[in-house]
Amino acid sequence: MALRNIRLEGDAVLSKKCRPVTEMTPKIRELIDDMFDTMYEASGVGLAAPQVGILKQIVVIDVEEDMPYVLINPRIVETSGSQTGDEGCLSVPGMAGEVTRPNYVKVVAQNEDMEEFELEGTELLARAICHECDHLVGRMYTELVTGGLHPVETEEEE
Ligand code: NI
Repeated sequence: MALRNIRLEGDAVLSKKCRPVTEMTPKIRELIDDMFDTMYEASGVGLAAPQVGILKQIVVIDVEEDMPYVLINPRIVETSGSQTGDEGCLSVPGMAGEVTRPNYVKVVAQNEDMEEFELEGTELLARAICHECDHLVGRMYTELVTGGLHPVETEEEE
């Protein structure tokens, strides 16, 4: 198990656009494993590569423990509905704020073997997919918050 340092809001790496992954390598597999370790250790439900300082289009998500997803080069291809609720981010520890997101999202991505797959999510999974895909284009949820940030104690963070 290897943990990586989570970059915090204000770090320039979090506002940059990520490059696509063109081939799987042992180094990228290791990065993905480390991202899961880092996310679980921090009790998060999602983590994007730029949050550990790597500008590649890689996201890990696990919103219900034991349903881990790796999304490489993800593209959201369909959304519908809307949900408004608190959202957090491991790069903004201890804080949350209200964000409106689609309630349904369909994303096309590649897995660890670079095979394309489709993932559909609603509610928290849809929110996590949107939040993490935003990280890949340098967008933080704090830019989307309405009503300001507030402290949280134990809520899970993305
Ligand atoms: Ni985040």
